[in-house]
Amino acid sequence: MTTGQQLYVRAKQIIPGGTQLLSKRPEMFLPDHWPSYYSKAEGVHVWDLDGKRYKDFTHFGVGACVLGYADPEVNAAVESALRQGVMCTLNCPEEVRLAELLIELHPWAEMVRFSRAGGEALAIAIRIARAATGRDKIAFCGYHGWHDWYLSANLADERTLDGHLLAGLAPAGVPRGLLGTMVPFHFNNTAEFQSVISDHHAELAAVVLEPARDCLPDPTFLQSIRAETRRHGIVLIFDEVTSGWRMNTGGIHRLLDVSPDMAVFAKAMGNGFAISAVIGTRAAMDASQKSFISSTNWTERIGPSAALATIQKHRLRDVPKHLIQVGNEVRESWLQAAAQNNLRIHIGGIEPLSHFSFDVPDPLATMTLFTQGMLDRGFLAGGSFYSSYAHQPDDVRLYADAVSEVFGELASALSRGDVRGRLRGGVKHSTFQRLTDAPVRS
Ligand SMILES: Cc1ncc(COP(=O)(O)O)c(C=O)c1O
Repeated sequence: MTTGQQLYVRAKQIIPGGTQLLSKRPEMFLPDHWPSYYSKAEGVHVWDLDGKRYKDFTHFGVGACVLGYADPEVNAAVESALRQGVMCTLNCPEEVRLAELLIELHPWAEMVRFSRAGGEALAIAIRIARAATGRDKIAFCGYHGWHDWYLSANLADERTLDGHLLAGLAPAGVPRGLLGTMVPFHFNNTAEFQSVISDHHAELAAVVLEPARDCLPDPTFLQSIRAETRRHGIVLIFDEVTSGWRMNTGGIHRLLDVSPDMAVFAKAMGNGFAISAVIGTRAAMDASQKSFISSTNWTERIGPSAALATIQKHRLRDVPKHLIQVGNEVRESWLQAAAQNNLRIHIGGIEPLSHFSFDVPDPLATMTLFTQGMLDRGFLAGGSFYSSYAHQPDDVRLYADAVSEVFGELASALSRGDVRGRLRGGVKHSTFQRLTDAPVRS
């Protein structure tokens, strides 16, 4: 056992669920063999607790580090904030500058609130929308975090949220009084959205969705959402926690020609430092003053300092162009290796947030074997790849070579029917699962 695996065994005894984020559980990649912890992360490289170095071709810090790990310019801004003092009785001026910059990048927006996490910012946006409209119901599509307002969608039927990114989320601990407040619809299904509107429009405070993620929206889908929300006085919220800062500097909705009433940013905006924002029209955002939305650590200085430096570099270096190009190259490496080895795969996502899956009889075990083979070759890798500005052509070339070799091994294992036999540990988890449950093995 590596030092990281030993530490994870201890963690599971005292940290319920082992980590603070489902997507960072080693079981989501390679049970019992994932390095689990890092001692250092820089550029595209990650060092584990035994000093072994990997190139990271996964979701790359869960999509937070769009410039690469430990970006020198962002770190310099944070070090300067540290020297000036990060907490004080007075407010830090960086938050006003960041609010102005976000409004400049999104001219439809007039006001901004800050917090420090994505789900938290969504909870703020929902509270403001409910305060603004005096209504309770939320129509939604996609994943929007762990808070009560969202998880309450599963109170009626624990499978309502399946198909909205994460399956198997139980609403234990969510007040049953929220039952019936959430109305789901599916991305790009305009007819379903229209029927949600005709059944619920008078009670809807907000419609919340990612404007794009797995694919771009059909133009009529977003346009009809915009038209109906406007017609019925419903607040339209775009969740740009993951889609923002990938295809352009700011929200992806700027490329889609539809402006919401509020948009929510987090993750890449601070390149890994904690910062999130709700931006919105004055009419929508002003309602936050009718409610109480306030927290000590939303006022610290590191988050806005990191975001200002991140956005500045993002704009100056045309980071989105690089993200799209690297995303395309990685997709090409999957396609070529699959064609060479007669493997059927499906590819999805916008280019900077790409993912693939195997169209084979035992896809989860096959993906686990892929991760195992890539780890042996010095890569952290799985079914999704989020590009960063730090991924360079040489990194992609080496990754493509390794993918080609490992796909060859998978093809041989599949033809001999011993995919599971070649795994050194269990099969990866694909959904939320109690860690005390039996592992997914045949
Ligand atoms: C679209 C979307 N909304 C909200 C969240 C929650 O953000 P956080 O994990 O920062 O709370 C995520 C996280 O993956 C997300 O992808």
